[in-house]
Amino acid sequence: LTQKEREIIENSIRDIKDFPKEGIVFKDITTLLNNKEAYGVLMNHLHNRYKDYNLDYIAGIDARGFIFGAALAQMLGLGFVPIRKKGKLPYTTISEKYVLEYGVDEIEVHIDAFGEKKGAKVLVIDDLIATGGTANAAATLVKQTGAECVECCFIIGLAFLDGIKKLEEKTKVYSLIEV
Ligand code: PRP
Ligand code: ADE
Repeated sequence: LTQKEREIIENSIRDIKDFPKEGIVFKDITTLLNNKEAYGVLMNHLHNRYKDYNLDYIAGIDARGFIFGAALAQMLGLGFVPIRKKGKLPYTTISEKYVLEYGVDEIEVHIDAFGEKKGAKVLVIDDLIATGGTANAAATLVKQTGAECVECCFIIGLAFLDGIKKLEEKTKVYSLIEV
């Protein structure tokens, strides 16, 4: 990523103060998505990074990870797997609970999502890592299906929350923009 490209992406992300509650600075990526230059620069960068990884699947985390994950899967000629919030997937699932700032949540994946053969190489992608709870649960699920979580990729990493550090104990982590 050149300095210019980094600026194009960074400048396209909007900060919304006190959303969804007081004290949170919400990183709004809708202004990246509707900016064709920024979205294009980002997706081309991800395509370049991952084209020689020999991946088998891209797994996107509900909901904003679907947008980047599905687009990247198409560019790489790979299949896409949704890791969803509890209760949305129709077939047999495995699920994993994780801790949020308040309370717990749960994500799921179809047991056969990464094919019959064990050891499929999977990239997990989401828009942002904060505490890392969601991504940690996603990486656990990928492993529980018998697949390999090759790397977890994020557009934005909130460094002050230590989520990246914790996740790095378990899997490789790549975050494009650390704030
Ligand atoms: C956001 C974000 C990540 C997660 C990061 O999703 O898209 O998935 O939070 O937080 P963590 O690192 O502390 O787990 P959210 O749960 O708000 O769901 P959404 O994508 O459906 O809005
Ligand atoms: N998910 C968790 N924290 C977030 C933040 N600050 N902005 C956007 N999504 C988030």
